[in-house]
Amino acid sequence: MSDPKPRRTKSRPLAPISVADPRAGCAARARAIRAALGRVLASGRYILGPEVEAFEREWAAYLRVGYAVGVANGTDALELALRAAGVGEGDYVVTAANTVTATVTAIERAGARVALADVEPDRFTLSADSVARLLDAHRGLRGRVRAIVPVHLYGMPADLPGLAFLAREIGAVVIEDCAQAHGARLHGREVGSWGTAAAFSFYPTKNLGAIGDGGAVVTGDERLAQRVRSLRQYGWSDRYVALQPGMNSRLDEMQAAILRVRLESLEKETRLRRANARRYLEVLAGIGDLALPCVPDGAESVWHQFVVRHTRRDALARHLAERGIGTGILYPLPIHAQPAYSERVLVPPDGLPVAERSCREVLCLPVHPFLKRGDVARVVTAIRAFER
Ligand SMILES: Cc1ncc(COP(=O)(O)O)c(C=O)c1O
Repeated sequence: MSDPKPRRTKSRPLAPISVADPRAGCAARARAIRAALGRVLASGRYILGPEVEAFEREWAAYLRVGYAVGVANGTDALELALRAAGVGEGDYVVTAANTVTATVTAIERAGARVALADVEPDRFTLSADSVARLLDAHRGLRGRVRAIVPVHLYGMPADLPGLAFLAREIGAVVIEDCAQAHGARLHGREVGSWGTAAAFSFYPTKNLGAIGDGGAVVTGDERLAQRVRSLRQYGWSDRYVALQPGMNSRLDEMQAAILRVRLESLEKETRLRRANARRYLEVLAGIGDLALPCVPDGAESVWHQFVVRHTRRDALARHLAERGIGTGILYPLPIHAQPAYSERVLVPPDGLPVAERSCREVLCLPVHPFLKRGDVARVVTAIRAFER
């Protein structure tokens, strides 16, 4: 993400427009956050106490799922969800190539190997057709894929019915990467409640962000939730008795207390994100070479990012930066082009052209709920000037 310096004009400096503003989200609730932190400080319970338990209940209720288990971050959440679902050594997990490397870090740490399938051109998320093509191309793969991990990138729900159908057919589970999609819905149902389990991140710039790291696994399966609870704390069943090799990945009481406050504002903040996105969709339509995001039938994005495509993406980003407008590129390199993963991941023989093109062309415009009146208009004016 690049947040530029304000550009000074002769009359008055233009305030910079940032592409994310985690400070503003906390400032808006500063008094309630201070009170919550005071409560934790006074309680003497700093790890796995009442705040984590309450947040887990509230987050599960918000998503209309049975269980939420707080963990240290989104990467751990995905690893733990996979491990608790039985994914491990010798298994393959299929995911999208245009995701953040954290997704594949988690898959590999669960012990599995990564196979990449291409994404849908209009919504940047894993395509069931392309997963099917990957399975046809690598014959041995069909029986070895234990999980499909759709990433609801930028807040847009992936084709969950299509992927769930395919997963059932090959005896795999769907584990959703919801790190960018807090409260997004598909056909009226929250993402995170479709798969066998799902992973959320509460990294500060996420739609629901902590003041530090945080994450959660959600699931409707009580036993899976219980396995995650055990895995997140050394594999213990009871205190000091380990049933399985685990790890230390606990959400702490202070972050949980902050998340409870911020959860109260999530609906309102999502409405503001949607209003900003609607405005962009209306006024940017048909401008030059700009390709706008599509919203498929039944999908309700939470617009973690508003992502346009442009063949001269870098020039457009520079043009906006010169006018004090921050943008981001999520993500510039597909997984199979990352030095750490290029030799390790399985890709279809015909490549991953849609993901590759999206990495070359995507640009995130400011859409967060703390944009000021007139900011969206300023971004639009600057884009129009670029296209002129
Ligand atoms: C799609 C996706 N998956 C996983 C993660 C990892 O989350 P965390 O940074 O909390 O470990 C992120 C966060 O950047 C993400 O955006």
